[in-house]
Amino acid sequence: MKSETVHFFLKKGILLNPDLSENLDSENMEELNNLFEDFSKYSTNSLILNNSIYKSLYLEKEEDLIIPNIDNSDYPVVITKEYAEVTKKKEVSDFTQHYKKRFNLISKILQSKRGLENSISIHKILNKRQRESVSLIGYVSSKNITKNKNMILTLEDLTGSIKVIITKDKIPLFEDANNLCLDEIIGINGSTGNKVVFADDLYFPDVPKNDVLKKCDEEIYLAVISDVHVGSTMFLENDFLKFIKWINGTVGNSEQKNVALKVKYLFVVGDLVDGVGIYPNQDDELNIKDIFKQYDKFGELISMIRKDVKIIICPGNHDAVRIAEPQPILDKDYIKTILKLPNVISVTNPSFVNIHASEGFEGFDVLLYHGYSFDYYINNVGIIRNNGGYDRPDLVMKYLLQKRHLAPSHGSTLFIPDPDDDFLTITKVPDFFLAGHVHKPAINQYGKVTNICGSCWQSKTPFQEKVGHKPEPSKVQLVNLKTREIKVMNFGE
Ligand SMILES: [Fe+2]
Ligand SMILES: [Fe+2]
Repeated sequence: MKSETVHFFLKKGILLNPDLSENLDSENMEELNNLFEDFSKYSTNSLILNNSIYKSLYLEKEEDLIIPNIDNSDYPVVITKEYAEVTKKKEVSDFTQHYKKRFNLISKILQSKRGLENSISIHKILNKRQRESVSLIGYVSSKNITKNKNMILTLEDLTGSIKVIITKDKIPLFEDANNLCLDEIIGINGSTGNKVVFADDLYFPDVPKNDVLKKCDEEIYLAVISDVHVGSTMFLENDFLKFIKWINGTVGNSEQKNVALKVKYLFVVGDLVDGVGIYPNQDDELNIKDIFKQYDKFGELISMIRKDVKIIICPGNHDAVRIAEPQPILDKDYIKTILKLPNVISVTNPSFVNIHASEGFEGFDVLLYHGYSFDYYINNVGIIRNNGGYDRPDLVMKYLLQKRHLAPSHGSTLFIPDPDDDFLTITKVPDFFLAGHVHKPAINQYGKVTNICGSCWQSKTPFQEKVGHKPEPSKVQLVNLKTREIKVMNFGE
């Protein structure tokens, strides 16, 4: 190989392997520059460029890829809010700033409510000497029941903290208070006592109650799946292949085929693969023990799907990214076969995307969140635990929409504090809130938001058996975006 070529790459910090010589033309600077750029995109941490990398960059791409003729403008997917990772060491002050930021975002929503427009700071309330009506907004920092069975909350804002008393005879106020979770942000109307407030009303930031559903003119479908768990011995590959055949319009009766071919958006809400080292002795439950191969297999499967279906994928707690939320997009080293597919869009967890906008139509807003925090609320909130618990992820989704936050209680998920933003706050009310994680499909309509929790493609694991979970695999929810009707398809036995 010409020494100029070696030099060209060496100056950029990359070592060329001699096996590449036959493929490179050292005279062609444009080709060398392109190669450098493609290699940088392909790998962020490798410093050696060899023949097999070169092949995977170019040759395999040409052989494997049949680029379909998709008019992307017809079925657009726009990422409206996505976490951009800032690599900086985190300090305690980042947590403080992060919680302040969250307080500002959510108290703004609360302040716009009738009844809370005149809310004042806790510091001001503590200085009041006479009994008077007040409204305030704060974090719930403690929640206790007194001997007389009344409730005392401690609310905290940026100026101080105060006790709020909710008497047991005030139903349904007391019920609402009973289901509060720590660290959520609420509003209170009440009257002052001696450094306390006696509550009359409790406000959640919530989503608007109007339930006018957005619809588009064309009969097209959005499909939801999650928790594929490729690599697990319990991965239901046959069911998944049946789903692929159906979406491609090759199986089913004519009506089913007709609907299948109108699916234009497919969301895959996390746990694409089973991962490695997720829990002790997971190895025994894996038939693909190499994480790269798990993603290759996942890629192989979704590459079989019609290329005019936009496939939006986000990571979950089994995927090969850090577990702390927001989870960045999947590393391109893992999903390089997937990224070759022209119809796949990889997004963060959580993320906000807009689909199907066109001139004169604003499109549908979709919030994707895998649902790692759901376990905490299922286990800790009475209204969810006593109404089905793990069988009712839709109740968790509704609960979190009321709080306008995906993990309001500190500790309900692992997270990385961003001092400038709180990515888990639901700042914009979506048309669809999609989740997964509990392996139980569920749907509900809350205000204008359609909550859909995906099913899974893994049969019951020994862990689920032990803790009494009843997964319901191989289901796909289909939303007709023209009528907003929802169908559930079953690809299981
Ligand atoms: Fe899962
Ligand atoms: Fe999960």
